[in-house]
Amino acid sequence: MDLRKKLEELKHNGLNDIQSAKDLEKINDIRVNLLGKKGPITEVLRGMRDLSAEERPQVGSFANKIRDELAQAIAKRKEELELEKIAAKLEQETIDVTLPGIQVKQGQAHVLTQIIDQIEELFLGMGYQIVDGPEVEEDHYNFEMLNLPKDHPARDMQDTFYITEQILMRTQTSPVQARTMEVHDFSKGPLKMISPGKVYRRDTDDATHSHQFHQIEGLVIDKNITMADLKGTLELIAKTVFGKEREIRMRPSYFPFTEPSAEVDVSCFKCGGKGCNVCKGTGWIEVLGSGMVHPNVLKMAGIDPEVYGGFAFGLGPDRFAMLKYGVEDIRDFYLNDARFLQQFSQKG
Ligand code: DAH
Repeated sequence: MDLRKKLEELKHNGLNDIQSAKDLEKINDIRVNLLGKKGPITEVLRGMRDLSAEERPQVGSFANKIRDELAQAIAKRKEELELEKIAAKLEQETIDVTLPGIQVKQGQAHVLTQIIDQIEELFLGMGYQIVDGPEVEEDHYNFEMLNLPKDHPARDMQDTFYITEQILMRTQTSPVQARTMEVHDFSKGPLKMISPGKVYRRDTDDATHSHQFHQIEGLVIDKNITMADLKGTLELIAKTVFGKEREIRMRPSYFPFTEPSAEVDVSCFKCGGKGCNVCKGTGWIEVLGSGMVHPNVLKMAGIDPEVYGGFAFGLGPDRFAMLKYGVEDIRDFYLNDARFLQQFSQKG
């Protein structure tokens, strides 16, 4: 058969095949079959041996032209198929942004954390530092440095979990006072700190006792600190947590590390002082302990009590939260029952 005719036919059939190829594998097969070393065009070129010298270059260039045309058609079809493939994939992966999302349940800070945060914020605003102390504490700091030597009867005020004779779970946050006083550099300014954290007592758990609860310790040491400074500070705490109209009163008390010592009551936020079930008819609710730092405590920490003095206080966030929200059982704070905790939503 005439080689030109054969080439024309190859082109015609080839273009048909290329156009009807439906996927990239098929087009690749066509390319290999049609243009490869063992393909029909190569065969035609081989058959040129039998042609005359004039005909050979003409048929040769014709064959090359057809080969180029087919190669171009293959490339074009390949590109089309690739675009189709991408379009199909995009179609399949379309996201309907108007569909409703999956509701994520948002948590909130624990009610005790909320109270602690509120008090921290108040004191940060007044230039206090917030100090952390160890919960596993030395007898030395938990008692001795706070003017409670071994066998001191006031140790009986706190039932203690001992780990060894010298190591215990701290019964109060007051040891952080001693630790902070020991390292404070007064050339940098007065000592003003609060220290929130967990404390432990060997109590039997009931509605008002938990073997683990919280305290926030407060301590200020400087020159010329008076009880008026203490009273003003305590009043601020009472107003911040229990409301602007609250007043406080201080009653003489005893703590080994303060002299004088005072128990602090806040005017009842429920009845405003008239007397009700919350304040047990007295108009006042006891909320914290406080006093002027005992000279022995200063001396033991290496501070000269003739030059420096200060005040300290210790309050219980658990008790604050119970009073503020009318929670009747302290154990509710530690049971992690979401139905209980969700009532203290910060949203309102
Ligand atoms: N640490 C005392 C307690 O747990 C509370 C307390 C009272 C702390 C008076 C003080 C303070 O800093 O001055 O009962």
